[in-house]
Amino acid sequence: MRRKADPADRLELTELLGSGGERDCWVHPADSRLVVKTTHTVRRRPCQNDLDYRYHKWLARTGKLNPHIPKIVGWCHTQYGKGLVCERTLNADGTPALDLAQGLGDGRITPKFALTLIEEAFAVFFKNGITICDEEPNNFFCVRGEAGVRLVVVDGFGHRHRNLKTLLRNFISPLAGVKTRENKRRLVEFVRSFA
Ligand SMILES: Nc1ncnc2c1ncn2[C@@H]1O[C@H](COP(=O)(O)OP(=O)(O)O)[C@@H](O)[C@H]1O
Ligand SMILES: [Mg+2]
Repeated sequence: MRRKADPADRLELTELLGSGGERDCWVHPADSRLVVKTTHTVRRRPCQNDLDYRYHKWLARTGKLNPHIPKIVGWCHTQYGKGLVCERTLNADGTPALDLAQGLGDGRITPKFALTLIEEAFAVFFKNGITICDEEPNNFFCVRGEAGVRLVVVDGFGHRHRNLKTLLRNFISPLAGVKTRENKRRLVEFVRSFA
């Protein structure tokens, strides 16, 4: 029998970090190194939290987890319904990392540096047949870790749909490569517009 959610387990979300077309992203109330993603708009396709969760499982199962995609911890209950708990993009000193749109916009990240980070991260994606399905610059964060700066993609890894095409991309890495290359090209174009 399925256990009913205990209201005492429900997280009260108060600190909003950002919103996209489908989801709100909140600081986890019990651990500020984590975020909780809730859905604000139901689309005519599988819920993105479900797709991200499944893709993350596939990455784990196939040994493709890497530091350019945040870890997914699991599910929780919130006042906005089901939430997906994920690692937050924080620098090693605990400050929030900058995304490419912010950083390039106010000059804190140079186009040259952004291009270096993109090359490094996408080399890992191509090598592992990982699909990047969105080029939105505010999905890409520059995280200053102990071992240097790296690009982390918080949304737009994996798939937007669940069908034969997306399934094949997990098995035939050149197919994933076609999609990823197209989104990399658009992201690089955005970065070059600041040069
Ligand atoms: N792991 C994360 N760490 C920090 N901020 C995040 C994280 N994930 C998302 N965000 C912020 O929340 C915004 C919306 O989340 P996102 O997952 O992109 O929603 P959507 O799928 O609706 O586009 C992002 O653009 C980013 O600013
Ligand atoms: Mg987004």
